[in-house]
Amino acid sequence: MSHHDERTFVMVKPDGVQRNLTGEVITRLEERGLKLVAAKFMQIDEDLAQQHYGEHEDKPFFDDLVEFITSGPVMAMVWEGADATRQVRRMMGATDPAEAAPGTIRGDYGLDLSQNVIHGSDHEDEGANEREIELFFDEDELVDYARADEPWVYE
Ligand code: PPS
Repeated sequence: MSHHDERTFVMVKPDGVQRNLTGEVITRLEERGLKLVAAKFMQIDEDLAQQHYGEHEDKPFFDDLVEFITSGPVMAMVWEGADATRQVRRMMGATDPAEAAPGTIRGDYGLDLSQNVIHGSDHEDEGANEREIELFFDEDELVDYARADEPWVYE
């Protein structure tokens, strides 16, 4: 990991998995040049959901949030790259798909405030990445590898 690279936590939410958008999300992040360092297809339990969304505990939609994120499997991932957290947030688009710009993941695929396909760590919340990565992954599940600069496929 070069010194200006950072790691960010990203998750395809249950609606994204159900609608077969897991591959599309991964493709977009790959094609943007971000590097996948961890991935886990999993069912979130209530305890993990409450910890993950702990900062929203007092919000009126907290129970809905926990119910939704535990309603089906998710694809939890860690992506690495220069300014990765902010880049992913830009590619995600606004939380509300109705406000999200076309071309963003939520702008293209999101349905509503909870069914908005993707979660990414908040880049304005210092420490959110580390906290969420630690919550979902053991240190040895983060794969440290060099990615070839040369393309794999030659025309
Ligand atoms: S806030 O209040 O600005 O911090 O909230 P926000 O960051 O926009 O959203 C936090 C997560 O809550 C989800 N959300 C909701 N779910 C259900 N109902 C309502 N009304 C609602 N509003 C926001 C939203 O999808 C965010 O999920 P994550 O997984 O963090 O993207």
